[in-house]
Amino acid sequence: MDRQLLACIRTFGCQMNERDTETIQGLLAQEGYRFTTDIEEAQLILFNTCCVRENPERKVYGQVEMLRGAKADNPELIIGICGCMPQQKEELTEMLERLTHVDLIFGTHNIHRLPELLHRIKTTGERVVEILDESGEPVEGLPAHRESDFKAWVTVMHGCNNFCSYCIVPYVRGREHSRLPKEILREAKSLADEGIKEITLLGQNVNSYGQDLRLGMDFADLLSELNQVPGIERIRFTTSHPKDISDKLILQLARLEKVCEHLHLPVQAGSDHVLKRMNRGYNREYYLQLVDKVRYHVPDISLTTDIMVGFPGETDADFADTLSLVEEIRYDSAFTFIYSPRKGTPATKMPDQVPEEVKKERIYQLIEVQNKISLELNQRLCGEELEVLVEGTSKHDAHFLSGKTRTAKTVAFPGSQDLVGQLVSVRITEAKTWSLVGEIV
Ligand code: 5AD
Ligand code: SF4
Repeated sequence: MDRQLLACIRTFGCQMNERDTETIQGLLAQEGYRFTTDIEEAQLILFNTCCVRENPERKVYGQVEMLRGAKADNPELIIGICGCMPQQKEELTEMLERLTHVDLIFGTHNIHRLPELLHRIKTTGERVVEILDESGEPVEGLPAHRESDFKAWVTVMHGCNNFCSYCIVPYVRGREHSRLPKEILREAKSLADEGIKEITLLGQNVNSYGQDLRLGMDFADLLSELNQVPGIERIRFTTSHPKDISDKLILQLARLEKVCEHLHLPVQAGSDHVLKRMNRGYNREYYLQLVDKVRYHVPDISLTTDIMVGFPGETDADFADTLSLVEEIRYDSAFTFIYSPRKGTPATKMPDQVPEEVKKERIYQLIEVQNKISLELNQRLCGEELEVLVEGTSKHDAHFLSGKTRTAKTVAFPGSQDLVGQLVSVRITEAKTWSLVGEIV
């Protein structure tokens, strides 16, 4: 194999970044590149970065720093950084100063330019940095190198207009731009032709899909159209902003048979005082009523959420409100985060930042409460027969398959490898906090 054309891409952060990595790999594959997970044998190393919290940022600095020796030994090696981190001006300046051995830096709006940027490095031997502030219209028709033969992500919109006071995303991903319905449908049809059975629609806030297009088409309409694509058997979507979920969407969730019974509905906090300072655009009562409405129309829906602890000004009483909301709603699972100040966001400058020990204490408490609920809800599924899309063999035991229910729960069960990519019916025999065990019926 030509070592010159072996690339290793490390991806941090959300599904949006994972999807971008597929495009990056698609573009590189057209240039003749092949891919490896072994960073030591690669001649092109790319870090697709996330800046939502500080931790993943620190990891990137650490990992890039470790390549300094490799670059000195092998000047042909190309090291690149892309994604959300370099979209922040101050971060970019710091990167340029600290990481002097990096050859290539580009952002989230100019992925399609990668082949040209690489060409420039190879011909001039100079460092290439190109960041665009705004995306404009989404670039269509880019290739994608997908990992799975039966499930795929489909981006429906880019950017975010919400400016939650803690969040860096609107600054690095720009304003909302919806893809045209005809482009999304064309992609879904071509994925179905390739054998893809499950699609997950991606956007920072899919519920406001279409508003910028002014075509009279909203997210609920888009779901109806996608529901008719032959070959696609399951449709998922993420992320939903509670303030933008329409009654029409809830009805479609109940009506469209391919749309899975799972809603990821980030709540962030249970206290009105905190929600207001987060600029979330809803209060606790609104959220509780919304969940009631969703459950009324789709009784067996699984609900997941994102919750943050330690937002500036969060008191013990505020945190108690978050715990009581979690107990009241009973989420199937929750992603829990410690608030991390992000430069340039309003929350960073708010008074009463919460001490680290308090944040840690709160997140442990929250996780404990949620884990208990997750286990109880999973236990109630014992004895039920659920449809599972088989995704692969289990990490722990090769005779076990692993897949997902329509409600996005992971199930392990004995079975043969040729079932990978198939929909099977599984009876649940055992419940754990984060997964289920079962047998094929
Ligand atoms: N600190 C901690 N968590 C954050 N999130 C977004 N910004 C921050 C931040 N500054 C969390 C939110 C969001 C999820 C993707 O990441 O909960 O829903
Ligand atoms: Fe960030 Fe809020 Fe937009 Fe989500 S909706 S990306 S939390 S600003």
